[in-house]
Amino acid sequence: MASRFGAAQVLLASNRGPVSYTAGEDGALHAKRGGGGMVSGLSAIGPDAGALWVCSALNEGDREAVRRGVGEDGVRMLDVPAEVHSDAYNGIANSVLWFVHHMLYQTPLEPVFDQEFRRQWASYETYNRAFAEALAEEAAEGAAVMVQDYHLTLVPGMLRELRPDLRIAHFSHTPWAPVDYFRMLPDDIAEKVLRGMLGADRLGFLTHRWADAFTACAEALVGGLGETRIGVHGLGADADFLRARSHEDDVAERMAVLREEIGPDRKTIVRVDRTELSKNIVRGLLAYEELLASRPEWRERVVHVAFAYPSRQDLAVYREYTDEVRRVAEAINARFGTDGWTPVLMHVEDDFARSLAAYRLADVALVNPVRDGMNLVAKEVPLVSDEGCALVLSREAGAYEELGEDAIVVNPYDVVGTAEALHEALSLPPDERAERAKRLAAAGTALPPSRWFLDQLDALRG
Ligand code: G6P
Repeated sequence: MASRFGAAQVLLASNRGPVSYTAGEDGALHAKRGGGGMVSGLSAIGPDAGALWVCSALNEGDREAVRRGVGEDGVRMLDVPAEVHSDAYNGIANSVLWFVHHMLYQTPLEPVFDQEFRRQWASYETYNRAFAEALAEEAAEGAAVMVQDYHLTLVPGMLRELRPDLRIAHFSHTPWAPVDYFRMLPDDIAEKVLRGMLGADRLGFLTHRWADAFTACAEALVGGLGETRIGVHGLGADADFLRARSHEDDVAERMAVLREEIGPDRKTIVRVDRTELSKNIVRGLLAYEELLASRPEWRERVVHVAFAYPSRQDLAVYREYTDEVRRVAEAINARFGTDGWTPVLMHVEDDFARSLAAYRLADVALVNPVRDGMNLVAKEVPLVSDEGCALVLSREAGAYEELGEDAIVVNPYDVVGTAEALHEALSLPPDERAERAKRLAAAGTALPPSRWFLDQLDALRG
């Protein structure tokens, strides 16, 4: 539970928090803890040192937890009304801002900024204000506040007005759109997003490319950055955690099952994603199909292990994409599969231990997003794979800035080119593959989550 108001020295704000609740049949609430960079980052400081994570209730279980006063030290969950959250999260954040920054609009999926959008925008403002007010209440004099991502772009500006004494940072985990694409947003909204973020002392981005795009938008639309400083912090994989976790028993059990499903003497191409349009899963499957069509020598000798976990299923466009992914995988299996060989092994229920099992078995990791803030899978698979895998990597992923030299790089729209890259990756001599994987793992773990977090905190307090 939140401790006394006005006591927190370091505050984190994000839509999704480190814990989520579901109500059981008996009415009891069950907590599920999430992992990830921010959890390990913030635990490097801990609630004893006055760290507080402010997040939103995301579902009925969470709302019930807030009402019953159930919670954890160092976490304050906001009881945002379901409709306000849905407008802000589904409507504005994941339909509009996500689509702008990932440049996902294309005919016939084009933005229509109508009255419904205006209504949702008002909820987005309400939602952001709820965060700003909670943070203003909890923060000690001069505290550091670290606001996360596109759900909360207005918080820095709102909080600055309420509490001019605070040090405020905002970090974007997504790409940032180029000016010509960003200004697709109605002028007043584009300006509010930029001015909201520029209420921060520091803005953080995952790569120079996204930081430069933001700067260009600020210069073109609101006369520049003003006093706000920009920093680039390329979040890396958590090597210690992943190495240990991937050698636990449940992972070994799932490896045995997967080995059985894959069959003997076959190579594996592994991908693990949330099922989400920017991940480009359909073109990845089509590239694999092209590989089997144009290079018949790989038939029966390779399996594509594709884990595509459900994401944002309240939105039709994400649901339809999920269906399409499944259809394309089934079509490939129908076209090429034989009695003893299933070309695409797809799983859709989220299972972290099984993901790690696939990582360990990977000969090739396929990471081909059309656009991605970073993509940690690209950093994780070469690190975890038992034999050291090859990496086929989109040049549009943030990770390309750090991993481009040792990956086999693709244009994510080029299906034939991606098929050729898969062939090249499968054909790499074992020594070279292992050498490259070693360098990829080193580059991909250069900035572990705890240092990523503490660097930003130091810079903010600096
Ligand atoms: C991206 C965003 C995160 C978000 C995650 C999962 O990585 O940058 O802020 O938490 O996707 O998406 P979800 O909508 O499930 O929180």
